[in-house]
Amino acid sequence: MDYADLGGISLRAENQKYLNKTPSSLQMWKRARELTPYGVHSNYRFTHPYPVYFRRGSGSKIFDIDRNEYIDFNMGFGALVSGHANPRLVRVLKERLENSSVLGFEDENSFQAAELVSSRFGTEMVRFSTTGTEATMHALRMARAYTGRSRVLKFEGCYHGSNQDLLFSVKPSPEDAGDRDAPNSVPAGPGIPQFMKQGAVISQFNDTQATLDIIEGDGDIAAAILEPFPMNMGVVIPEPGFIAALRKACDAHGIVLIFDEVKTCGKFYGGAEEVLGVKPDLKVLGKAIGGGVAVSAIAGRKKIMENVGPGGVSHAGTFNSNPLSMSAVVASLKDVLTRNALSTAQRLSAAMASSYNDLLGRFGVPATVPVAGLSGAISFNPVRPRNWREFLKGDIGRWNYYYLAMMNRGIIPAGPGPDEQWTVSVMHTEEDIERTIEVFKDVAPGISHNFPALEVQESV
Ligand SMILES: Cc1ncc(COP(=O)(O)O)c(C=O)c1O
Repeated sequence: MDYADLGGISLRAENQKYLNKTPSSLQMWKRARELTPYGVHSNYRFTHPYPVYFRRGSGSKIFDIDRNEYIDFNMGFGALVSGHANPRLVRVLKERLENSSVLGFEDENSFQAAELVSSRFGTEMVRFSTTGTEATMHALRMARAYTGRSRVLKFEGCYHGSNQDLLFSVKPSPEDAGDRDAPNSVPAGPGIPQFMKQGAVISQFNDTQATLDIIEGDGDIAAAILEPFPMNMGVVIPEPGFIAALRKACDAHGIVLIFDEVKTCGKFYGGAEEVLGVKPDLKVLGKAIGGGVAVSAIAGRKKIMENVGPGGVSHAGTFNSNPLSMSAVVASLKDVLTRNALSTAQRLSAAMASSYNDLLGRFGVPATVPVAGLSGAISFNPVRPRNWREFLKGDIGRWNYYYLAMMNRGIIPAGPGPDEQWTVSVMHTEEDIERTIEVFKDVAPGISHNFPALEVQESV
């Protein structure tokens, strides 16, 4: 890595601190990368200069293999709105394990879990799967079966898991992205067949007119899928009317509208529909609904979902609605992620954002702090990004210093990447927020230097 000017000196010092603080992680990484590409089992987990390896988590805290303690705002990339090892979930899951974790037949709790999902997220039918990746894949198949069409409209910078159909224009470089009104469909790395490019029609988030024009000019779109508050480019807020206009166009053209709420289902009590007032045809849920156990759901209109079944639309999985995941969904939705608990987390998130904003202003750092529910992000960009191309104008070098310096002082301020955000869980406290802001006061002056930027990774 190159360093430049004053910013380089501070960054070098923070890198040295990181090395001093996490020697066991460095050793483990050196061994792990011999057996595992990059030493991690998910590309998103690789961080510069090397990933830290962790041992355990409790409430809002997480502990690495060098026994360093951190206040965690990554929270399993948003899977842990319930907090680490939430006592209520631990109790339920221990009991469940003692009574088998795979029955191979339908678990009695899957009915209650389906009821809880339907009433909370306003959907008519639901099928459970295991990961967000699988769920977006299944949702797309359901939409194709229902419409008899094949293409999918997706938005630049939105991520829908490692689902091959949707691994296009996830993080395209400005050179590859193409025309802003008719963006290229850019494969997210090698290994994705060229012929699949035609299947993904790309538009820019928050660009209503271009999106409507694309829909108007294409008769083969089965589904439009989007993160209603994109959270794989920091935090992007939908402009008033954008999603409502998309809903209207989907209705007019017989297109199935899919909200990918793998992240947002945990940020607002009833998901994005509750704040946007727009109902999609299908919702994909994941992460937070399982309180830390792998589970996802495809939920929505009966007329689309009732086509799933033997001899009909394929949806299967050995681990679908396994008892561990169903107990986790019931306990999470009923007892842990209550409306009160989520409002408290949202309040803490808003307070943290406001303090970040004040300090960034005080130290003259050009940045904005968009917030959505109990998540938010610092974007080192004087203008709040409304889409992927604006997100790319952020100062990645500054972000890198901020993240490393916060880590070195015992705070994981967000997910590990400028495209991630923080998650305040129901187990974070006011003291956690105060401590984070105290630490940021120490870090903010250093952020005002210029730093060498790191490349945004195109491959996910
Ligand atoms: C919006 C969105 N959809 C889908 C996924 C994929 O979920 P999973 O990692 O469980 O496959 C993610 C993962 O971060 C996501 O952010």
